[in-house]
This record gives sequence, structure tokens and C-alpha cells, in this order.
Amino acid sequence: MVQELTYPNSPCGSATDMEAFWMPFTANRQFKANPRLFVAAKDMHYTTADGRQVLDGTAGLWCVNAGHCRVKIAEAVSRQVNTMDYAPAFQMGHPGAFQLADRLAKMLPGDLDHVFFANSGSEAVESALKIAIAYHRAKGDGTRQRLIGRERGYHGVNFGGISVGGIPTVRKFFGGLLTGVDHLPHTHSLEHNAFSKGQPAWGAHLADDLERIVALHDASNIAAVIVEPVAGSTGVLIPPVGYLQRLREICDKYGILLIFDEVITGFGRLGAPFAADYFGVLPDMITVAKGITNGTVPMGAVFVRKHIYDAFMHGPENAIELFHGYTYSGHPVACAAALATLDVYEEDGLFQRANDLSGYWQDALHSLKGLPHVIDVRNLGLVGGIELESIPGRPTARAFDVFVRAYEQGLLIRTTGDIIALSPPLMIEKRHIDQMVSMLTDLLKATA
Ligand SMILES: Cc1ncc(COP(=O)(O)O)c(C=O)c1O
Repeated sequence: MVQELTYPNSPCGSATDMEAFWMPFTANRQFKANPRLFVAAKDMHYTTADGRQVLDGTAGLWCVNAGHCRVKIAEAVSRQVNTMDYAPAFQMGHPGAFQLADRLAKMLPGDLDHVFFANSGSEAVESALKIAIAYHRAKGDGTRQRLIGRERGYHGVNFGGISVGGIPTVRKFFGGLLTGVDHLPHTHSLEHNAFSKGQPAWGAHLADDLERIVALHDASNIAAVIVEPVAGSTGVLIPPVGYLQRLREICDKYGILLIFDEVITGFGRLGAPFAADYFGVLPDMITVAKGITNGTVPMGAVFVRKHIYDAFMHGPENAIELFHGYTYSGHPVACAAALATLDVYEEDGLFQRANDLSGYWQDALHSLKGLPHVIDVRNLGLVGGIELESIPGRPTARAFDVFVRAYEQGLLIRTTGDIIALSPPLMIEKRHIDQMVSMLTDLLKATA
């Protein structure tokens, strides 16, 4: 199918054939028959191809934490592109990567003090899983190879990430995946926790399932556990009180590394720099992406604790310690964007702002309780989830219908299954929250 488009108010200004672009995680035929195109963005709003303003309820895809087209970030990117476009990442360096790593290390809790750069969340996860296995091997524990993920986890789309991830549709098309992977149960229970405000009270005991996995395989075969502190892509699953602490205790007991995938929780989403700070749990590694550059330039990273980095720093000094890396690890333009992004977060006090607004956000979202088909509302920091009852035999249809109507009426939300996920830029104001909730109220009232 070929669809010709014109953009009356857009800088593109010309007709476009839409067929060639195979869109990711998108119903291509449905989209191309009825496209939704953004052509500009500023602060809390996108501009559509037909010139409408759309309030951004999702910070793009959980990434534009400081709001759109921040001048300081744009200028830093422009300066870097015009000064030095690229420097080889292997056996060479440039100052920006060292400055950024040093600055991140100073922001991080505990002894998370080394940074490995990648280009996306998926690559960060892949890097962390490889580092975990290589770390044990470097210490002489070469049998520790098994990786433990969690049901309903999302860790990107590469083979390691989908293997430890727990979303059936993301896994089932791609064959045998990695061997030597187990999954903890997810912690979401409408029966026990529906309409919890903040962390649910029920469910910490689900972490004890790690004991069962250890008993089955023996700790001497297990390298790492990876979880999202708050699962985003499967519909905003908030960890029960005490759950992450319990996971940490069990990992410590058996010498298993704990990895937090903070691709969405990193950089202020919960009202603290990282979820590790928010929950007061120190993992051995943290994976990040998205908010590290405010979504401006692709970048991912793995933060590792001192003992992990140190375990590799042995042998002849002229030997490469870790045979892993990307052409664009620590890309100069991404580093410039990230350094400017950290400035903006700091200058605008955005993490504190998210924390200050989280109570207002919670009350606003929970006002949706009682509307048609709403079976749960959940929240933490500036994250929200609204779960709708599925139409029998047509899962996802009800929420997707709300998504399309919201877009048409000027609000960007994200849906996953029949769950609406909200994660606005942290620069959001109370009036935007009111507008978002008022629009959602009307949309849900009109939902079939
Ligand atoms: C927790 C988590 N990990 C990994 C990823 C993958 O990131 P990317 O799409 O940048 O590869 C995502 C993306 O949403 C995510 O939410």
C-alpha cells in the first residue's frame, strides 16, 4: 500500500511515500492507513503534521525527562557536531566520555563508580549480562553462567534481553533464545493490590522464589538476577514494599549479582536520581538509556560497582580486559548531549520537582477510580498505570481505542495490553496534570 502524505504546517513540506519504512513495534498496515505524525516539539507538547498541539503524557517513550527541545542540550549537540563528529572508541578516547563517566559516577549511590557506554537500553542490558558472566569467570567462578529474569520483565530486544525478559509476544517468535535462564514470578496482583497508592503492601514474599531457583541449580551456577525496579513496558508494575530489599538479601547470601534495569526509572522518574536511591537498595549494576540524553541522541550505559571493575583489572597492562564494546560507545555527540542534559536536570531541580509533584499526581490519577472499565490505578513518582478491563476475545482493543482518541483530542498516552501507562516530562505543571486527567476522564466515560 502506498500512502501519499502532505504536511501543511510541517518543515517537511513535501509528499512522502510511507511504504518503505518498516516501523518498529507498530501495526504497520493500520498505521500507514491512518498515520499519526509529529513534526515538532517544545517543552510539554508535540506538534502534529496537521498543526495540532498534543500534550506529552509519556515523555516521548519514557525518555524526554527534561521536556522537549531544551536549548542548552541542542546547543551542546550542535557545538560538538561542529567541533569533532566522531573519535574512535577502541584504544582512543575523547574528553567528553571521561567527563560524563566521572560525573555520572559522582551522582551514583554507593560504590557504583564505573561506566560502560552503549547506544540503547537493549545494548546496555546485553553489556550488563555479558559483564556479569565475565566477572565471575575473571574471579575463577566460571560455572556461574545462569541468568535470572522475571515474568513480565522487559529488557529490550536483543537475544540476552528477550531471554531474561518475560513478555510472551517479545519472546515467542524468536526461537530457542539463551539457554540457562530462569524467571522469577512477577509481582502484579489485582486481587491483593488493586488501587494501591504508591508501593503495594502485598507481595514481598515473591522474592523468595529466588531461593527455589538456587535450590534447583545451586548458587555456584548462577551469575546474576536482573529486574526492573518498576516494570514499565508491561504496564507499570510497582514493587511491593520490601520486595527489592529481599532480592538484594538473597543475592548477597549466595554471591549472585543483582542488576537493576533502570532504563525508565533512571534520571529522576521516581523523584530521585535512580530507583536504587529511591528504594535504598544498592544493586551491583544499573543499566540506563533514554533519560541519559533526554532522548536527544541515542545512548545507553551500564554502571558497575568497584568490585566488578576491579575484578577485570588484572594480567598484563597491555592486554584488553573486556572484549566487548560498540563503535559508538561514548559517542562524542551523545556525551555532549548527556552532559548538557545533566546540567538541565540539576539547574531546573527536576528530580526534586518530580518528587514534589508525586502526591498531586497520585491524587489526580486515583480520581479515575470508578470510571467505566477501570480495574486498577497505580502510581509511583511520576509514573502512572491505569488498567482497563479487556473486551472479551479482543485484548488490547479497548486501551488502543483510548490511545487513538486521546491523540486525536490532543493527549499522548502509551498503552500496553489494556493498560494505559503515563510518564510525563518532569517539567510538568499541575495544570498539565489537571488537563491530562480531565481528558482521560472524558475519554474513559465515552469508552465502549
Ligand atoms: C526497562 C527497559 N529496558 C530496556 C529497554 C530497551 O531500551 P531500547 O529501546 O533503548 O533498546 C527498555 C525500553 O523501553 C526498557 O523499558
